[in-house]
Amino acid sequence: MRRKGSFQIWPLRIVITFMSAHLATGQIRYSIPEEMTVGSFVGDIGTDLGLDPKRLVSGKARVFTAGDSEYVGLDKEKGHLIVKQRIDREQLCGEVSICSTSFNVILENPMELHRVIVEILDINDNSPVFPRGEMQVEISEGSPPGARFSLEGAIDPDVGINTLQKYTLHPTDHFNLNLQSGTDGSKNVEMVLQTALDREKKTNHYLTLTAVDGGKPQRSGTIKIHILVLDVNDNLPVFSQSTYKTSVIENAAKGTLVTTVSATDADESSHNIQYYFEHPSATVKALFAISSESGEVRVTGDIDYEKYKQFKIKVTAKDHGGLTDSSVILIDVIDVNDNTPKINIMSFSGALPEDAGLGTVVAMINVQDLDSGDNGRVTCSIDRHLPFKIESSLTNEYNLVTDSTLDREHTQEYNITITAADGGSPSLSTKETLTLKISDVNDHAPQFEQQTYNVYVLENNSPSVSIISVKAEDADWGPNARVSYFIADGHLNGHPVTSYVSINSDSGVIYAVKSFDFEQLKSFKIQVKAQDGGSPPLSSNTTLNIFIQDQNDNAPQILYPVQTSSSVVAEMVPRSADVGYLVSKVVAVDVDSGQNAWLSYKLQKATDRALFEVGAQNGEIRTVRQVTDKDAVKHRLTVVVEDNGQPSRSATVIVNVAVADSFPEVISEFTNFNHDTTYSDNLTFYLILALAVVSVLFIFSLFAIISVKIYRWRQNRLFYKSAPNLPVIPYYPPVYADGTLQRVYNYEMCGTTDSRMSDIKFVRPYSQNTLVNMSRAGTVQREKKEQEDADLSFENLRTFWLFGSRSDRGRAAKTL
Ligand SMILES: *[C@@H]1O[C@H](CO)[C@@H](O)[C@H](O)[C@H]1NC(C)=O
Ligand SMILES: *[C@@H]1O[C@H](CO)[C@@H](O)[C@H](O)[C@H]1NC(C)=O
Repeated sequence: MRRKGSFQIWPLRIVITFMSAHLATGQIRYSIPEEMTVGSFVGDIGTDLGLDPKRLVSGKARVFTAGDSEYVGLDKEKGHLIVKQRIDREQLCGEVSICSTSFNVILENPMELHRVIVEILDINDNSPVFPRGEMQVEISEGSPPGARFSLEGAIDPDVGINTLQKYTLHPTDHFNLNLQSGTDGSKNVEMVLQTALDREKKTNHYLTLTAVDGGKPQRSGTIKIHILVLDVNDNLPVFSQSTYKTSVIENAAKGTLVTTVSATDADESSHNIQYYFEHPSATVKALFAISSESGEVRVTGDIDYEKYKQFKIKVTAKDHGGLTDSSVILIDVIDVNDNTPKINIMSFSGALPEDAGLGTVVAMINVQDLDSGDNGRVTCSIDRHLPFKIESSLTNEYNLVTDSTLDREHTQEYNITITAADGGSPSLSTKETLTLKISDVNDHAPQFEQQTYNVYVLENNSPSVSIISVKAEDADWGPNARVSYFIADGHLNGHPVTSYVSINSDSGVIYAVKSFDFEQLKSFKIQVKAQDGGSPPLSSNTTLNIFIQDQNDNAPQILYPVQTSSSVVAEMVPRSADVGYLVSKVVAVDVDSGQNAWLSYKLQKATDRALFEVGAQNGEIRTVRQVTDKDAVKHRLTVVVEDNGQPSRSATVIVNVAVADSFPEVISEFTNFNHDTTYSDNLTFYLILALAVVSVLFIFSLFAIISVKIYRWRQNRLFYKSAPNLPVIPYYPPVYADGTLQRVYNYEMCGTTDSRMSDIKFVRPYSQNTLVNMSRAGTVQREKKEQEDADLSFENLRTFWLFGSRSDRGRAAKTL
């Protein structure tokens, strides 16, 4: 701050701040004198706008001056505005008395715009100056007192009190000064003749004209006036008008006629009158010329409305005798729309997150048009299909703001073309395109291609085999779209699911961790989660239904007839049996399922193939022809049970059949079965044992027959009448022979809990266990409970066991 004499003008400030929802905008005004040294303090903008220095630094505060040179800069650390270059008020504003320079202070994050106006105060740094040091005036000796002679004025570019205030003339024996103030504030100075001049007395007069301004200290300038007294000349030339008003359009071609001035003189013909501009300024000399003979004023340079809006030229007509008249030509310059608007992007970030709210400022724009009036009135616009709009904030300043929601997944980039058009006719316009990138926000969760996946895995798979690959897509970008996969925690049969399957978190490939067994686990369900890399991350789930598929890894199991190494069981066929007599039934199950459990029966070997056949589907052994007396008593049939798997698995069972009418016959024959075994030497013992067994059976049978007959009195028989010696099967559908139902049957067999127990149960009648129970003669309730077993025993009376080993024999004896 320069402190010199009266220039102790502290910066004066007026702060007007108004905030809109998204953009802080303020206006602040300072006043400083011109010609301050570079670096001088202008104003404390930090304090005045309430911005602390950190905010100025983080917001990258800067000064933006549209067009002109930057006079004021910003010291971010202190928050001070300082003079950046010499400010000469006269150069900046010329004769305009209120001179100011304006600029914006812009901050980012969030955007803030503050308008600063710095008024430049005048100091008396210019003296009044005459264009020339000396001037010559020719005056006729006959000029009457009161005759006026125009003098060249001095120029002081300062304004107000600091500009030219008055003139003084010395000596004043013949002339006085007359000061005329023009309407525009200009001062014309004239000499008025007081006493007549006499050429014969004094031909040359020398005067001094002094111009002084009103500043403190006062400054002045002088000019020497040389007056040459001429001989008598009767009449003065007179201009036809005291003021010639005319206009010229800017950019008028050189040679264009602006106006013609003319003066008449009663003494002489007008062609003797000469015209010239009186003390023209350099600008006038450059732009206009007057023809001294014709008085035509023509354009000689480029007239720019933006520099000069009006010219005032003093013109003088001088006759032969040296007498003159003065007039003024006022030339108005007419504006032409010759300047296109200029767009200055004050601030533009280039990228915007897609979740930016409505009204977020994208860019701040300043427009300039040097033309005046409508030609300089600029309007800004953008394509209205874009989700942005342009709002006017201050004069010539616009904000580009968001007008609707943005979605990067829809549009990643916008080219926003800003058009600035002026109001001229025709209108001139400029375009400026901003490319705005929309940056990603994690607003999409990964999406699995399928809501559920069904996976089929063949059992006995090798562990770590990949069973499926799941995939989730995320519409976001970069880390927000990087998907990782996880298996949701959970338990399956008491074990964590991760002990069954694992997932590659990058690829989504799911692996089996172990070998599955269909017979243990038929299917299970897992949840897979896909999560993106956003912050916070988003995720979604999918369900995997994993179905283990059966393999034919189990052979059929024979449930009946029971095979033991130590005993022989035989089916008895009476010799009277008809064709189709049901001898026995092979019952088998397969723990596999489907085709793998679809069993078929085949007679593989038989003592007499012509006598027996096996139902391929039901395993029933029937006679094929009438039994004759010639048929052997004992028959040995080998039945193969085969499942339908690929490859198929099978089991074989040996069924002993006795064709006989009496037990002794059977027993004698059947001991021969084991003829070459170690038991043959114990034949006698077996016979006795068998007789004892038969006797006991007979007693129980009698008892059983009586109770059963009573029990069955009112009940229908559930079983085939033609199969009195069949084992009782809990469920035995009539269409059993149909192959398709075989499966149902098997399912029943396997599906019931502890099915094997129930299977064994119906075999029990032949075991000593039952005999024990029967012999124990328990309570009536007990007898009732055992009713069914007893019944079965009775029904199967004709099927008997022969014990082979010594231990078995012992056990049997003990039982008996
Ligand atoms: C925007 O303009 C650039 C350069 O002209 C061009 O490469 C890009 O494709 C444009 N983008 C859109 C969305 O039109
Ligand atoms: C995903 O599943 C988990 C547990 O199964 C549940 O807590 C979560 O809410 C689910 N997430 C989605 C997005 O469905």
